[in-house]
Formats: sequence, structure tokens, C-alpha cells
Amino acid sequence: MKIGLIGSGGMARALAGKWAAQHEVMLSGRDLAKAKSIADEIGVQAGSAEEAASFGEVVVLATRWEDVFSGIDSAGGPEAFKGKIVVDINNPVSIETFLTTRDDARSLTEAISDYLPGAHVGKAFNMAQVAVWADPDMTYDGRQMVTLYTADEAADEIIAQLIRDVGALPQRLGSNAHAYQLEAAAAIVIKFLFAGRDPQTIFNFIQPEVKAVR
Ligand SMILES: NC(=O)c1ccc[n+]([C@@H]2O[C@H](COP(=O)([O-])OP(=O)(O)OC[C@H]3O[C@@H](n4cnc5c(N)ncnc54)[C@H](OP(=O)(O)O)[C@@H]3O)[C@@H](O)[C@H]2O)c1
Repeated sequence: MKIGLIGSGGMARALAGKWAAQHEVMLSGRDLAKAKSIADEIGVQAGSAEEAASFGEVVVLATRWEDVFSGIDSAGGPEAFKGKIVVDINNPVSIETFLTTRDDARSLTEAISDYLPGAHVGKAFNMAQVAVWADPDMTYDGRQMVTLYTADEAADEIIAQLIRDVGALPQRLGSNAHAYQLEAAAAIVIKFLFAGRDPQTIFNFIQPEVKAVR
């Protein structure tokens, strides 16, 4: 699969570094030289945001959450995302109040979906800190990590596969109507991370088939 990422920060690097084993990947950034040097380190391609959106069958929105819509616009706007699977990894969470920043009970994911009517959108990878996504093992307390995601029907299978490809087990929470729950749950994790918890603090969902090996 071809995956383009808008952004080349911590999360883009962690995810792209794992996907590079199975997929063709392109990172991007406003500073192309910086994006290229990160891409070279992990063995993927680099381009402008526009090139990354055009390259990807899947496009991952990996700017800071405040920059999501300007990132989309710099990638060519809604037209550039038609027919693509779009993965929203962003947590619209204030690091002062540790509350979500959206006050209408609708999620950032739904706002993105409204902005990109031709795309198939889902939310994933928002529920744990970057150190977790970069972890080559993804086994916690002897169990493979289970992570929640939401998705349109058309994006469901591909997002589930992308989660497997980084080493976690996907658990669909539902359609993007549930994405606000993922954003609020991430706010809980972020609050405790800022209070000094281990970066690998996660919500895990124990499934019988992945019981700990003793
Ligand atoms: N960090 C975590 O632990 C974590 C965990 C889960 C979810 N998340 C979410 O993931 C998102 C990314 O977090 P991060 O920690 O990876 O952020 P980050 O390290 O600050 O990276 C943001 C990236 O976005 C790029 N960028 C900004 N505007 C852009 C544009 N218009 N076009 C192209 N690239 C653009 C920046 O590159 P330039 O400045 O060079 O353009 C930078 O590479 C956030 O929304 C966060 O809520 C983070």
C-alpha cells in the first residue's frame, strides 16, 4: 500500500518507521530538507504535503492537532483527498486543562470527515504516547496491545491492517460518531503522562485469545 503522511514529527516518524517494512511511505513537512533527513534515517521517501497526499492511497494527518486543517489545505485541500483513506491521529486536548478543546460534543475526526466529503476517514493511533507506537515489541504485561479505533465502513479494514502492521491488535469502537470518546479517553492518558506517569501508560483491552503467556 502507498501511505503519505502530512507531517514528519514524532508520531509520523514512529508510524512510518514501522510501515516501511511492508508499505511504500512518504513523509512531508513545511521544511522539506528536515523531512528528507528524517525520511532518510528510516528508509522512506519525503516530499511536500501536496506530494504526500497525492502519493498515498492512505493519507495520515500527523501535524499537531491545531494544524490539521492548514495541513490539509497545504496538501491541496479537500479535492486532493478524494477517494483516499484518511487517518486522523490527532488529540484536540488542552495541556492546561486536559479537556478536549471541542465544545460541541463532536470530534475533530467528524469535523475532518465533513471537510473531506470525498474521503473515507477514521481515527487511530491517538490512544497512546509516541514511545508506545515506536516500541518494536508492543507487548504489555505479557499481552499484545489492543488499541481502539473508529472508522467509516470503507476505511475499516485498511485501518485495522495498519494497526496490525505496527504490532498492535485493532479493536473497532464503531463509526466516527464514537471518535469523541477516543479523544476524551486520550485526554485522560495525556493528563497522567504530564503528571509523570511512564510514557508507556496505555488503556489496554484484554481479549481471551491474547491472554498472558505465563
Ligand atoms: N506525541 C504523541 O505522543 C502523540 C500520541 C498520539 C497522538 N498524537 C497526535 O499526533 C499529532 C502529531 O503529534 P507529534 O508529536 O508527531 O507532533 P510534532 O512532533 O510536533 O510533529 C508535527 C509535524 O507536523 C508538521 N507540519 C505542521 N504543519 C504542517 C503542514 N502544513 N504541512 C506539512 N507538515 C506540517 C511539522 O513539520 P514542520 O514544522 O517541519 O512543517 C511536524 O513534522 C498531534 O495532533 C497529537 O495530538 C501525538
